[in-house]
Amino acid sequence: MSNQTNPIASDIIDPKSVLQRTLYTGAKMPGIGMGTFGSDRFTAEQVADAVKGAAEVGFRLFDCAAVYGNEHLIGEVFADIMKTGIKREELFITSKVWNDMHGKGDVLLSCAKSLKDLKLDYIDLFFVHWPFPNFHPEGAAPDYHNPDARPYIHEEYMETWYQMERLVEMGLVKHIGTSNMTIPKLQLVMRDAKIKPAANEMELHPCFQQPELFNYCVDNKIQPIGFCPIGSPTRPDRDKIPDDVIDIQDPIVVEIAKAHNVHPAIICIKWAVQRGQIPIPFSVFRNEYSSNIRCVVEDLLTTEEMKKLEGADKKCRLIKGQVFLWEGATEWTDLWDLNGEIKKR
Ligand SMILES: NC(=O)c1ccc[n+]([C@@H]2O[C@H](COP(=O)([O-])OP(=O)(O)OC[C@H]3O[C@@H](n4cnc5c(N)ncnc54)[C@H](OP(=O)(O)O)[C@@H]3O)[C@@H](O)[C@H]2O)c1
Repeated sequence: MSNQTNPIASDIIDPKSVLQRTLYTGAKMPGIGMGTFGSDRFTAEQVADAVKGAAEVGFRLFDCAAVYGNEHLIGEVFADIMKTGIKREELFITSKVWNDMHGKGDVLLSCAKSLKDLKLDYIDLFFVHWPFPNFHPEGAAPDYHNPDARPYIHEEYMETWYQMERLVEMGLVKHIGTSNMTIPKLQLVMRDAKIKPAANEMELHPCFQQPELFNYCVDNKIQPIGFCPIGSPTRPDRDKIPDDVIDIQDPIVVEIAKAHNVHPAIICIKWAVQRGQIPIPFSVFRNEYSSNIRCVVEDLLTTEEMKKLEGADKKCRLIKGQVFLWEGATEWTDLWDLNGEIKKR
């Protein structure tokens, strides 16, 4: 199946033609970005090469994280990109503090390491990757449990958040954001934060639309950033269970893809941008990532198609976070406050 209706000689998009979103600070960020998590399948070199290619075809937003283990190589690419005449302020770079670096002192260290690896003076948007200080070793099995793992403890989270605020005050990061949050947790952060989250990175794809959390974010001027926008077909095996749905095989997505003569992945991305989140699709293949940015500037979905895609929601979370469960927790749903209350031990 082709990704493009009309293949053209150049696969380069003018970044100025890509829709920009405005954060509550007034700063702008691109309406689509490039993911950089190799999902334990693609090497750091492959991902860094893809970042280079993605910048060539017009991407300006790059979603990085310390735990992806590739910031040192991506940093070299950023340095090269800036030698080609692209200015730092034209790029929008995110990174994230990993779960083993929460709390006093460590957040600053984590940010300093990411800045050094990425070869930057500042990060545009710095996230708390997960709201728990629970981490798993690289390549952990699906049933791995860290004996020190614990549920969300708001006071502990705020200790981390206050360090995030310090980074803004020090000029090391421009904005701070949350990730993998729920409404009850965000309500507490919004109540207690001096500097409110500018964005929330959350799982969003046609089969997992999270309308309540999405609307909460929009209503509170928190920009939703959608991860796994294509339904993450290459995610690590530890994040796969037999009941998971496959967005790019969903009948509604497939039908609309046929009508536009594109791969279903392209419909997932168009839907995301037109709905208002910022998708950060990943690919190491130039034909894929160039199609991913081209598709947001041409052949948009109709209002009827957008309405139809609402019906694709299967409430199917793919990144369940089961490796972050604490002793005494029974299942992954304990991480996601399904009845509106934060689960305690
Ligand atoms: N904050 C968080 O906790 C969190 C969690 C997960 C992810 N993320 C971020 O979100 C990014 C994206 O998530 P993801 O990589 O898991 O999932 P994704 O972007 O939904 O899926 C990526 C896969 O989709 C396929 N694909 C991409 N473009 C395509 C196209 N045009 N046509 C056909 N197939 C295409 C590729 O698979 P093939 O190689 O099979 O073609 C690629 O490996 C990550 O890289 C990371 O930056 C953040």
